[in-house]
Amino acid sequence: STPQAISKPESNFVKVMEQQGRRCIVFYGSQTGTAEDYASRLAKECTQRYGVSAMAADVEQFDLSHMDTLPEDHVIIFVMATYGEGEPTDNAVDFWEILNDEQPQFSVMENDEKPLEKVRYLVFGLGNKTYEHYNAVGRTIDKRMQHLGARRIGELGEGDDDASMEEDFLAWQDTMWPAFCEALGVDENSAPSGPRQPIFEVDELESYDEDLVYHGEIAERPKKDGSRIVYDAKRPYNAPVKTREVFQDGGDRHCLHLDIDITGTNLNYQTGDHVAVWPTNNEDQVHRLASLLGLSNKLKSVVSVKSLDPAASKQYPFPVPTTYHAILRHYLDICTMPSRQALMSLVEYAPTEESKAILLKLASDKDEYRRSVAEAVRNLGEVLELVMAGASNNDGAFAGVPFDLIVENVSRLQPRYYSISSSSKESPTMIAATAVTLEYRPESTPNRTVYGVNTNYLWQIHAKVNQVDDGRSYPLYSLEGPRGALLAADLSHVKIPIHVRRSQFKLPRNINVPVIMVGPGTGVAPFRGFVRERALQKKEGKAVGPTVLFTGCRHSQKDFLYADEWTGLFDTLGEGSQLITAFSRETEKKVYVQHRLQEHGQQMWDYLQQGGYIYVCGDAKHMARDVQQTFVSFAQTYGGRDEDKANAFIKQLRTSGRYQEDVWS
Ligand code: 2AM
Repeated sequence: STPQAISKPESNFVKVMEQQGRRCIVFYGSQTGTAEDYASRLAKECTQRYGVSAMAADVEQFDLSHMDTLPEDHVIIFVMATYGEGEPTDNAVDFWEILNDEQPQFSVMENDEKPLEKVRYLVFGLGNKTYEHYNAVGRTIDKRMQHLGARRIGELGEGDDDASMEEDFLAWQDTMWPAFCEALGVDENSAPSGPRQPIFEVDELESYDEDLVYHGEIAERPKKDGSRIVYDAKRPYNAPVKTREVFQDGGDRHCLHLDIDITGTNLNYQTGDHVAVWPTNNEDQVHRLASLLGLSNKLKSVVSVKSLDPAASKQYPFPVPTTYHAILRHYLDICTMPSRQALMSLVEYAPTEESKAILLKLASDKDEYRRSVAEAVRNLGEVLELVMAGASNNDGAFAGVPFDLIVENVSRLQPRYYSISSSSKESPTMIAATAVTLEYRPESTPNRTVYGVNTNYLWQIHAKVNQVDDGRSYPLYSLEGPRGALLAADLSHVKIPIHVRRSQFKLPRNINVPVIMVGPGTGVAPFRGFVRERALQKKEGKAVGPTVLFTGCRHSQKDFLYADEWTGLFDTLGEGSQLITAFSRETEKKVYVQHRLQEHGQQMWDYLQQGGYIYVCGDAKHMARDVQQTFVSFAQTYGGRDEDKANAFIKQLRTSGRYQEDVWS
């Protein structure tokens, strides 16, 4: 083998800060991109408004054991998301380990008691109140930093993704910046005024090599040195996919089963993991925004977009050169709601006094924003259209907006995660996923339909490939797009970009123990994998413990997922194993999985006494809570515990990994 010279990037962030003249670093622990987005916004505000040079950085990029050497007049800001059952995001795992070590090892360690005595920091945590461990990561970081002697110089910030993330973030900044300025001795009101300072530069290219233009590829092209390509979250694999419809409930809901082929790659998975799918934006939305920005006739133009800060950790926000079309279709999350801050930055470009006033109101008035943007689920294009209400033609209305400002204000399109519905023991190179198309009419604007980006994209592929005509005219997704030829001219070779995310949601190692699974709707997805795995083990002659699945849907004959598979699987599993169903709309009174669970209380309690494991998948807000409450009631009714002890019992099951959730809100 040939030795390779690898120039390792500097991992000591304090050194990097000194080299670049920064006084503030904003570390982000991000899973879906929000924390990353917030970190960039903070760094920008810090630098531009308060004149304190700041940088945003992926917490994974640096070795945080150098924290103890940070000079006293510097500040670290942590913007950290909590994920799953109170876990740090994938990129924050190393930092988490350093911090939570009983005796953390820092680079100098002169003072073992308080190694971080000189360090000043701030925390903004991103969490979701629906989950039990609300903002556990932000809170723990704060606690550990203080324990190690560091000083927080402002309030601990917390955002709730279930209700008010953006507002929480803005409200936190209202008190944080004054405290920040005071701690650093910066004059709060000395904000440098003057023209906007762009952070990206957009160049329309006159000449370029056609072969080098990116059309939606997520990662830069691999080097042609013959080495095997390693696919991961930063470099998704364009996987061949086959789809089939698992139900059509007679209405507008479609459910797709995807078989994703990872043969011949480094990718692998374990039963219970998640598969990430990179979506494509709806073409209607692409054209709406393009038209407002005056780009309709320039969509094919080739552009380069790069950071104006030569020291930025990401020089390019997405692979370039590319086209306006690919940017709007594949790289920017244009179907999501714009932040108030983003709207504020566009006010000066509104074409008329009237539109200026409306946009300013949306950007500055919380309630107005909530009503017309958040609750109405309007994306940027729709908000700009709303602002232009009354105008007969919006084409080019916002043509004055520099495109770099759009890149700055609209976050990157992020992958969507699905619970894998196959067993890795049974099909190690074919990942199954289950996705129901999402569409709804916001209560406040019932005549508008909002479409889930990825599920409708997948459905459109399915409909086209299988020549399904369901009588509806679909929002357009361009399937001809040359996105790395993901959609080949020959539709039998459809590909989508994917990667695998590990999860903690795992069957017990000991296959003898009873397994209780609760998963209504698409929450049944991982349990298809679990049940198939247990059935396979049974066929192999192993002593598989009782396997019980509670699942449910609206109608047994309409939206019952994998109805044709269960009988065979449970026959194989044999005595003691059971499929227990709750069909909510077949009787006058709703029957939910927790009701059916209740009916089998004694049996489930007995299983728990035998060391059984509980798994819950699906809606976090209502279902998962009710199910947990039902198990708590078993510990009271059958276990003779009082309420506190019953709650403690379930908590203990969680801690020991015997009560696992894969839930979403
Ligand atoms: P519903 O839509 O008739 O109310 C999958 O979505 C299934 O979960 C449906 O049968 C749905 O019933 C049911 N469901 C809705 N809310 C639920 C809750 N709070 N707990 C358990 N199941 C619920």
